[in-house]
Amino acid sequence: MEAAASFSKSLFLNLAVMICFLGALGRLVMAQDQSKLTLSYYDKSCPTAQQIVRKEMDCAVRQNPRNAAAILRLHFHDCFVQGCDGSVLLDDTATLIGEKTASQNVNSLIGFDLVDRIKNQLEGECPGVVSCADLLAIAARDAVLLVGGPYWDVPVGRQDSKIASVELANTDIPTPNQNLVTLIAKFIGKGLSTQDLVALIGSHTIGMARCVNFRDRIYGDFVATSEFDLGSKIYLSKLQSICPEIGHDSKISPMDYVSPNVFDNIFYESILKGEGLLNSDQEMYSSLVGFETADLVKTYALDPLIFFKHFSDAMVKMGNITNPLGGEVRKNCRFVNT
Ligand code: HEM
Repeated sequence: MEAAASFSKSLFLNLAVMICFLGALGRLVMAQDQSKLTLSYYDKSCPTAQQIVRKEMDCAVRQNPRNAAAILRLHFHDCFVQGCDGSVLLDDTATLIGEKTASQNVNSLIGFDLVDRIKNQLEGECPGVVSCADLLAIAARDAVLLVGGPYWDVPVGRQDSKIASVELANTDIPTPNQNLVTLIAKFIGKGLSTQDLVALIGSHTIGMARCVNFRDRIYGDFVATSEFDLGSKIYLSKLQSICPEIGHDSKISPMDYVSPNVFDNIFYESILKGEGLLNSDQEMYSSLVGFETADLVKTYALDPLIFFKHFSDAMVKMGNITNPLGGEVRKNCRFVNT
């Protein structure tokens, strides 16, 4: 008994030390070269670029607010693989394997048609000028703003890659069943801090997840924690009716069931109540080693303005992860130029 207790105590201490170490490392690792991104990059070459993107996003989000979530996630999955270089948008061809079949992307990422529509408008106005990577960064900001979130200026001047990496997409994009230490490590690896992680995961205040991604959670931890609260119990039984133990993998449920189409801080309140839909979301508060993350969840649940500020700052930081190899301005976001 004593041996087991001392083993779990030392495991706990090791994990806590690891989190502190990762935090310190995060402050040392800088985001990649961002010197070429500026706010004025298209001022002369395509002065209406921002308006064109906003108009298309406005129209799309009015039609279906899920479009906001789709674009925000595309930008994230773009930036985490080779930097923000539009690689996520590339289709498979005879000579290129894109990232769309990576485990976290396949049957999951949406919004590619909307990107095509915006790109067509941009090409009509200023052919060959605005990169697909910049399109995503601007559209992601507009997406957040259009569903009630904060505004931030988007530095631009990214280039589109001529290659993609399904291997990196498989290894670098976080998954919902990874633990806090792994999630923090993945963000640190991209030059993003623990605070950036907790703020950026607030993106899950909008959008949907598929049953296959929350099944383990709703037949696992959630069962025990919902015991003490009638509201949680009712929510859990609703989730279980959407997502049975076997089958219906593609059925969807919002990650913020209170206000799924509004970018607000209610997502963090749900996490405080133990009602996070994804295991990775709940880890931010419930992980035994997540002192810093739990404090941040509490702060964001209490103060939407601090959440908005940290979120915008982290979005700029994530958007600044550029691909050092450079590239081109694709004419069609799905294919490299011929
Ligand atoms: C710990 C890191 C993260 C993990 C493990 C994670 C995981 C997931 C998963 C599993 C889904 C549901 C996908 C599906 O079921 O098809 C999802 C959806 C989403 N994620 Fe994340 N995510 C993370 C961070 C982020 C970040 C940093 C952003 C944006 C900056 C983001 C934005 C979104 C959005 C907007 C959706 C909803 C998409 C839609 O409705 O189509 N996520 N995420």
